[in-house]
Amino acid sequence: MCGIIGAASSRNVGKLLVQGLHKMEYRGYDSAGIALHQKDNIFNLRTLGKVSLLEDEMIEQRPKSKLGIAHTRWATHGKPSKKNAHPHASGEVNIVHNGIIENYLELKEKLIQAGYTFESETDSEVIAHLLHQHLQSKGDLLAAMHEAIKELDGAFAIAAIHIKDKNRLVVARNKSPLLIGVGLEENFAASDPLALSQLTNEFVFLEDGDIAEITKESYQVFDRKNSPISREVTEIDIAVNAVTKGEYSHFMEKEIYEQPNAVANTIDGKLGDNDVLDNIFGLGSSEVFSKIKRIQFVACGTSLHAGKVGRFWFEQIAQIPCYVDFASEYRYRDPLVEEGTLFVTISQSGETADTLAALRYAQEKDYLSTLSICNVPTSSLARESEHVLFTNAGPEIGVASTKAFTTQLAGLMLLAMSIAKSLNKDQQNRKKLVHELRNLPKVIEETLKLSNEIMNIVPNIADKHNALFLGRGMFFPIVQEGALKLKEISYIHAEAYPAGELKHGPLALVDDQIPVVALSPENTLTEKLVSNLEEVKARGGTLYVFGGENAKIKIERGEYIQMPECSELLAPIIYTIPLQILAYQVACQRGTDLDQPRNLAKSVTVE
Ligand code: AGP
Repeated sequence: MCGIIGAASSRNVGKLLVQGLHKMEYRGYDSAGIALHQKDNIFNLRTLGKVSLLEDEMIEQRPKSKLGIAHTRWATHGKPSKKNAHPHASGEVNIVHNGIIENYLELKEKLIQAGYTFESETDSEVIAHLLHQHLQSKGDLLAAMHEAIKELDGAFAIAAIHIKDKNRLVVARNKSPLLIGVGLEENFAASDPLALSQLTNEFVFLEDGDIAEITKESYQVFDRKNSPISREVTEIDIAVNAVTKGEYSHFMEKEIYEQPNAVANTIDGKLGDNDVLDNIFGLGSSEVFSKIKRIQFVACGTSLHAGKVGRFWFEQIAQIPCYVDFASEYRYRDPLVEEGTLFVTISQSGETADTLAALRYAQEKDYLSTLSICNVPTSSLARESEHVLFTNAGPEIGVASTKAFTTQLAGLMLLAMSIAKSLNKDQQNRKKLVHELRNLPKVIEETLKLSNEIMNIVPNIADKHNALFLGRGMFFPIVQEGALKLKEISYIHAEAYPAGELKHGPLALVDDQIPVVALSPENTLTEKLVSNLEEVKARGGTLYVFGGENAKIKIERGEYIQMPECSELLAPIIYTIPLQILAYQVACQRGTDLDQPRNLAKSVTVE
């Protein structure tokens, strides 16, 4: 998955394209490239590494052009290298691509037989040669694109330019996000509106099978059948300060500290005096909820962890059974759909390929309805689900998800309460929860103040190779999330276990070299958890425990950090915070590139 951008303008576009790539580095950052139409050639520049390296080269070379395309890459086929970077060229055509061409080997074979030579190991290069091949018979880039995409299986967002078209950019979309940005005397295409946030606030979201031609004066979209079609223009204002680090050293740090506000925005306008309001998941949602018998959650990574916490809440508050599946696995196990099951996807980006594919698969099954909890209102997931709750966390740029997670949890709690309300269950608890939710931003703020205390334990973890994370009940998914945070940004191997499982194998790992991080809130499982932690102590383990006011364990090796008092049901949200801070500080100490950790990308738009 990658970010693509294109521009047709009456001004020089090189700088605009590079600025756009910077904003899409969350989609991949292992190499970058640009192709600019010039008088009688196409200037093509590719660099290995982040967009800033491409920018340095651009500053040195200062190419001028009013039409161009650019790309930031996350390698799928072929290692990160200059020759695998986009744009790919074939004769007089240059293309950028986001997605995966599943039948590329077959196409590559045919193209080689037709005399084409391949310079890269990518699947994307077939698109350039296919376009070139069809240009020979069609003589026009738009017509060639129509023909070329008929041969492509898989996901793609493509932008292409041709030497004979000094004013026109041609784009095509199937299962990978792509939109047109409508400007004044200039028009754009990009994978994400964020890339164009300083250029326009008017966007046209393309649909699967769409092709479009874009010039500086106008644009025209064509559907699968090649008929001109009009697609709605959507206005979106993206706050510019939401995409800068401000006073913080990293986006991740900024996003951790934004959580009190972000959670307040998620619940804003959703709560009455004593209960959750009706239809907060869209018109008619309360009516649908009254028919629910089961819930199926599907998500990836951090968002999956949110679903796992949600499961406890739904079974407790709404008293309905829940299933939680990895989006990447769900549709391959032929799931049996029970009557009255609500299908719920959870996603920050709303563009995660596995989650989106699961939703599309579910739409073919007998689910009661589909619902998504999502942070990006313009995303495919939000547009394709019948009901949606936007988490309103604001853009999350750091690859490691932080505020997206806690706002997803707040959204899930609202969902559990809404369903309980529609099913007439647990009114007293809901009343209490309304007040606890309102107080939640304040408690998060309090928890953020633990930063200095957490700093004290950082040196004892930053020099280790492994870590164990323990929790029980709804805190098990929270320690899974904590372990994920630590490994993805500090590259320390971290494993999470439900504490009761320790004695069934992982206890063998415990020695004085493996820090054991545990969450010990005050609840019905505290005594049990403490017994599990005693097992660690007895083997000489070092414990770092975050727990309630009355520490039930005496720690000789390690540290006990006292958490602020908080609601028992909302405690998973609060206990997430110190684990985020811990991972962040450990990664800072180890000096990793923590906003853009190695091998990863923010939005995973490939399967
Ligand atoms: C975790 O920090 C990650 N960024 C990752 O696990 C992420 O949650 C996952 O890729 C799903 O993304 P989504 O929420 O945008 O669907």
